[in-house]
Amino acid sequence: MKKKGYHLRFRLNGEENSLDIEAGISALELIRDIFELKGTKEGCGIGECGACTVVVDGKAVNACLMFAAQLDGRDVLTVEGLGIGDRLHPIQQSFVERHAVQCGFCTPGILMSTHALLAENANPNRAEIVKAVAGNLCRCTGYQNIIGAIDAAAHRLSKEK
Ligand code: FES
Ligand code: FES
Repeated sequence: MKKKGYHLRFRLNGEENSLDIEAGISALELIRDIFELKGTKEGCGIGECGACTVVVDGKAVNACLMFAAQLDGRDVLTVEGLGIGDRLHPIQQSFVERHAVQCGFCTPGILMSTHALLAENANPNRAEIVKAVAGNLCRCTGYQNIIGAIDAAAHRLSKEK
């Protein structure tokens, strides 16, 4: 049986999009398979690991748990939309400088959780940082450098204002 379609309009990394999709596909499939933005990772596929984290209307969400159709009319940011041209976003720069990346599988999701955190709270304390990335699992770093990088990014961004 042919699956029902859905017409989707949404903004992705600053660009308006209008396309027909299968109604049952996830936001993660839309981003990775249709738009071929492979920075958003699929880890568990069930909302446990945070590898698929993207920012929707300013909030960090697990793309594996959303239907693509739920993005209708919304504004989506993925890791590919963070940098400006060839320049890394200040959050990315802090992750590099603080050695907060090892294998990198978790990194895009953590960057997006960080982006949502700092947009809402420019000066988070350690507990707030830990809470913001609690849904992002990292099997490599032990988290200390990630937390340090997020703190450094907050300072860097506040100086740029
Ligand atoms: S792939 Fe979405 S939370 Fe793990
Ligand atoms: S850097 Fe490898 S999972 Fe986080």
